[in-house]
Parts: sequence; C-alpha cells; structure tokens
Amino acid sequence: MAHDCLLQLGNLSFDCCCRLTIVLLDLARILELSPQCDLFLVALRDDLRTHRIALSAELAELPIIEGDRVQMQQVLLNLISNAIDSMVVRDGDRVLSVKSETGADGVVTISVADTGTGIDARHLDRIFNPLFTTKSAGMGMGLSICRSIVEAHDGHLSVMPNSPEGTVFRFALYPPRPATA
Ligand SMILES: Nc1ncnc2c1ncn2[C@@H]1O[C@H](COP(=O)(O)OP(=O)(O)OP(=O)(O)O)[C@@H](O)[C@H]1O
Ligand SMILES: [Mg+2]
Repeated sequence: MAHDCLLQLGNLSFDCCCRLTIVLLDLARILELSPQCDLFLVALRDDLRTHRIALSAELAELPIIEGDRVQMQQVLLNLISNAIDSMVVRDGDRVLSVKSETGADGVVTISVADTGTGIDARHLDRIFNPLFTTKSAGMGMGLSICRSIVEAHDGHLSVMPNSPEGTVFRFALYPPRPATA
C-alpha cells in the first residue's frame, strides 16, 4: 500500500510530521534506524518551514534490507540538504519529494527530488567528486560521502533531471542474497 501526501510546511501540522516520520520510519524499519531520527526530523522540519518548502511523500511497504542505520540516515540528510539548498535560491513553488518503492525483484529504491535550480550539464560528471562544490560555503563532500555509503551497501546512487525543473537523486538497495551452500 502506498501513502501519499502533499503538505504545506508553512502550516506544519502534526500529521505532516507524522508523514515525514513515516518516510524515515519505513527506512528505520528496514535499516533499523534509531530514535536519533527525532533530532534529524526536528532540524529538517524547521528548515522546510523556514523556507516554505512543501513536502510530498509517496511511501511503499518496504522489505527488509540490511544496512548501517546511521550511514543511511546520513545519505538521506545529505540529499535532502542539497535539495533544500537548490530550492532556496530561486522563486516559485518549492517541493521536496521523497519516494520509496520496491521493485518486483525486491530492489528498494529511494528518491529525493526537488524543484530547485537543476544541475549544470557541465558539472554532472564532477558532482560526486570529493571537494567539488558550487556553493560559497560548501565543502563538496556530501555527494561523495553518499555515493561511498550507498556503494558500501552494494547499492547504486544516480542523478537525473526532474520534470519540469530541479533534480532527482535516487538510490537503490538490494535485498540480501540467499546464503550459498
Ligand atoms: N539537488 C541538487 N540540485 C542542484 N545542484 C546540486 C544538488 N545536489 C548537489 N548539487 C551540486 O553538486 C555539488 C556537490 O554537492 P555536495 O553535496 O557533494 O557538496 P556541497 O553541497 O556543495 O557541500 P557539502 O560538503 O556541504 O555537502 C553542489 O555544490 C551542487 O553544485
Ligand atoms: Mg551537500
């Protein structure tokens, strides 16, 4: 079953917090994320509210995937931080979309999409490099760390343009392989 919501965080409600919590709790369940989630959520909620960013969450039932809960939380945090950064510098609708789904093959896909600036085609092959940044106060480490973590979980992190504007980062995690005799 999928849950859908589109909420204006300017009027952040309990329900909205719950929805966002569900995104992370789904991940929490599959990756055994800890109650530290709460701290992450509070900071994130404040950021979204301050910058008038709406949240769209589309969440699937997810199977069990093995992984490091703190590292996965870091991946989400980095991707969401980048999404927020890309939206606050431009006018227009600001929507952060978080989606989780499971393919027929059991592969879990989690995507973080924004309606921000998009990524200059000239930068695309460098954004995952350590120290590459276009931000005055950026370290250029977020995506490099995300890719390392996802690949350490045998997963794959990719980027594509959002339609009609912005960017989508998507990472796939694979179900545990059956033990071989
Ligand atoms: N969602 C996004 N929309 C547009 N550009 C993005 C997005 N995510 C990443 N980028 C681009 O990729 C670059 C590298 O991102 P990365 O997260 O690695 O570093 P950073 O955000 O600049 O700094 P930090 O180390 O603080 O995360 C960014 O500077 C930005 O140019
Ligand atoms: Mg970053």
